[in-house]
This record gives sequence, structure tokens and C-alpha cells, in this order.
Amino acid sequence: MQSEYQHLIDLSDYPVSWWTKLIDLGVEIKNDPPKYAHQCDGKIMATLFYEPSTRTQMSFQTAMLRLGGRIIGFDNPANSSVAKGETIKDTTKIVSSYADILVMRHPVAGAAKAASISADCPVINAGDGGHLHPTQTLTDLLTLKIEKNTLCGLTIGLCGDLINGRTVHSLCKALSMFEGNRFIFISTPELRMPAYIKDIITANGSTFEEVDALDEVIGSLDVLYMTRIQQERFASVEEYLAQKNTYVLDRKKMLLAKKDMIVLHPLPRVDEIKVEVDDDSRAMYFTQAKYGVYARMALILTILGEQGGSETLKGKVYSGVRCDNPKCITNHEEYLPKSFRFSGDETLLECEYCDERKLI
Ligand code: NCD
Repeated sequence: MQSEYQHLIDLSDYPVSWWTKLIDLGVEIKNDPPKYAHQCDGKIMATLFYEPSTRTQMSFQTAMLRLGGRIIGFDNPANSSVAKGETIKDTTKIVSSYADILVMRHPVAGAAKAASISADCPVINAGDGGHLHPTQTLTDLLTLKIEKNTLCGLTIGLCGDLINGRTVHSLCKALSMFEGNRFIFISTPELRMPAYIKDIITANGSTFEEVDALDEVIGSLDVLYMTRIQQERFASVEEYLAQKNTYVLDRKKMLLAKKDMIVLHPLPRVDEIKVEVDDDSRAMYFTQAKYGVYARMALILTILGEQGGSETLKGKVYSGVRCDNPKCITNHEEYLPKSFRFSGDETLLECEYCDERKLI
């Protein structure tokens, strides 16, 4: 299925050279913001946030305002026609006829892809359920580029809710494309990284290991990426409470870490990083959030500067075949074509919206 526009739904839709060019632009913008102050004069960005957000929404808005553009949108769908039952298709169709670029966050996996099918302007995925968060990854890559001066040869520990954390899914997919990166997944058995992400890491030639204890591995890390336990994605409060407080980074654990290890976190933090760590020069999460504005300025400029369209759905619809993931957008909005692609072998289908696999 063709779209007239270039969207950012998943970074893997673009070659690595596209990401690195964008990151280089982010560095240039950071070093000389006034040069970019009028590059989006007369442009309008719409932010459709169906889920809570502080950093992603405000950094996108700040980015557009700093480029000279203007913003419209909602951050509470209850105040829009969504509350009256309007579909993503209709909301997107209308808003994309008002704006030049549309940024969407939604609690259901594949929602931004669904929006891109009917939008009359480029769509950016600002987080789709527990699935992906490509613009956080651009922020993380920009932070690594500036603070570690490389995207290669790093040992990266990712700690916390690896099954539901969309930021770590996008980040591992991206970093595994750079040479020599090694991942250490630190989580409880219930919150391990999804199999499809581990398969992508292996296919890209990177390695990973899975451990339970943070203090056993912290000393070997160049980067520690902490994450929040995603309460809103658990089936019950009991299941969440069983995971809460498992990993808490404190001053004592930081004593075990390398002198040049950096701590990242997409934020918001709940209790997984003690406030006492904030004064440590290796705590980079507030700086990371600041860099999010430069990454998003670079993204807006890149997407708006792009010519030509893109293929929104590359797979096939198989008669009677549906996605088994109840958290997939195709199980929430009936009109969507239920499109699948083959995953590796000929017996496994992968939903194009949420990556859920299905044996045939
Ligand atoms: C993250 C998100 O929304 O996925 N936050 C963010 O975008 N900066 C992480 C989280 O909510 O835990």
C-alpha cells in the first residue's frame, strides 16, 4: 500500500545512513540553534496524544516552535471527537488536512502505522503501546553520540521492564545495527525482552545475555539504560506490585560502575533511580531529555525536507487470518487491512502493525 508521504513509524524503515545523517544534523542544531530558527516558518505540526506524555509531547512542540513553526493538537482524547467514537482513520484524515506533519502517541500497538495509511501528511510515531518509540531512540542515539562519542563497540545494560518498554525495543533494534555492540538484559524472568527483538539483534550480528541481578553486571557496562515498570500495561495491579521495586539504582550500586559509564533513562522515573544518583556526573537522563528537542528538530526538518512517498504496508492479507495480539490496533479498528509478512521461515507470519508472530 503506497502513501504519498514519508512517515516515521519504525526506524528500521530507513537505512542506517538516514539515522546517522539525522543525528549529525541534531549535533549541528545543538551547536547553532539560531541558524534553524526560521526553517519551519509557516508550517503547522499537529500532536495527537491519546496517552499521557510530558517530554515527548513538549519536546516535539518546543522543537517545532524553535524552528519557527506552529502547533495544534490534543493531549486528552476525552476532549476530542475520539470520546464520541471517532476512528483513527477519520481523526487522522481530518487533522492531516490541517497540518503539515502529524505526531501521534497511542496506547495500542500499530496505531501510528494505521494512521499513516490514511494520512494526508507525514506521520511520526511518538510511541505505540508497548511496541516502539523511534523518536526516543533518536534522542538516545544523539545522547550517545555526544556523550560517548560513538555508537559502536558499547556494552549496554538495559534494566527493568523489557517486555513492555517500547523505548528499549526501538533502541536495541537500532543499536544492533552498529558494529560491536553487546547487550545485557537485566530483568526478572517475567519481564524479559520479547523474542522477536532478540532475533533481530542476533540477525544483525550483535550479542546479548540475560541476567537477573544488576549489581553483578554493572561493573562491565559502558551505558546503563534504566526503565520504569510500565504499570499501565499490566493485566492486574497484583502483577505490577510483584515487579515494582525489583531494581533500584542507588549510590552504592554506582560505586561498582566504571568511571565513564553513563546512566540513561527515557523518564519518567518512579523509584528505579534514587534521587541521590542525580548528582553523580554519570547521571545523564536530564541531559538526554534536553537533547530530545534537538533530535526532534532534526527529525522534523528531515521529514519535511523529504520528497516522494513510502510503502505503508508491504505484506499480504490472508483470508480469515487475524493478529492474535489483543493489544494490536487491528483488533481495535476493524476496517484496517490485516496485513502480515513472513518472518524468516515460511511457517511464521508476523503482523505488520505490532510484530506479533503466528504459526501457519
Ligand atoms: C517513555 C514512554 O512513554 O515510552 N517515556 C518517554 O517517552 N520519554 C518511557 C516510559 O513511559 O516509561
